[in-house]
Amino acid sequence: MKFIQVKDYKHLSREAADLIINRVRQKPSLKLGLATGETPIETYRLLIDDHQKNGTSYKQVKTFNLDEYVGLSGEHEQSYHYFMKKYLFDHIDIPKECTYIPNGNGQGLAECNLYEDIISQHGGIDLQLLGIGRNGHIGFNEPGTSFDSKTHVIDLTPSTREANARFFNGIEKVPTKAITMGISTILQSKEILMIISGESKREALHNLIHNGIDEAFPASALKNHPNVTVIVDEAACGNTRLPN
Ligand code: F6R
Repeated sequence: MKFIQVKDYKHLSREAADLIINRVRQKPSLKLGLATGETPIETYRLLIDDHQKNGTSYKQVKTFNLDEYVGLSGEHEQSYHYFMKKYLFDHIDIPKECTYIPNGNGQGLAECNLYEDIISQHGGIDLQLLGIGRNGHIGFNEPGTSFDSKTHVIDLTPSTREANARFFNGIEKVPTKAITMGISTILQSKEILMIISGESKREALHNLIHNGIDEAFPASALKNHPNVTVIVDEAACGNTRLPN
């Protein structure tokens, strides 16, 4: 894993957006894996800004989102379908039919297998963007998820539901299940870009650096991948020294 430390969230977003823009320019038909959550919002804004000012085109790009809540319609404001349209897809030239997101109202296992098939039929993901949960989750792969997992339906842990309650007006409204790419699905991406920002992620970053590879800390699976860049800001680092 290669670590890049930057000053703050603004610089982290600039660095992440530049890497993505470069990859899209190098390969206009890039297969791009996307994340939701708070961390990538500014990165997406910078992609939009670059698209508008410099004309970087997403006409041939295909995107694959990591996850979606089970039971929310695409029109629900907290669904990840809604999030992606609001923060990215509605503002760039990507055709809607080229944006894949797991269907939270699909038929369980059949939907999971379908999503895996779609990714493989496109030749796999070239670049996967990831955030990290406070408990080390990637996608919605909670601690204890098998590193061999493919796309699957998962029960959200109380800590993840609590962390996301701020978006739902109360924890009781947060869905209890999600559909997520599995850890092995994520590891099959050719390149991975993880962004970690803010003091609330300090413990997760510390564990990522110091823990061994262990299913109890899902993000540690990335240590098995040959091409991972982790961009972190000073608030996430605290006193943690990054490996050289
Ligand atoms: C979202 C996702 C999650 C988030 C993680 C961090 O698609 O896969 O793993 O990346 O929960 O979320 P934020 O960025 O809100 O701290």
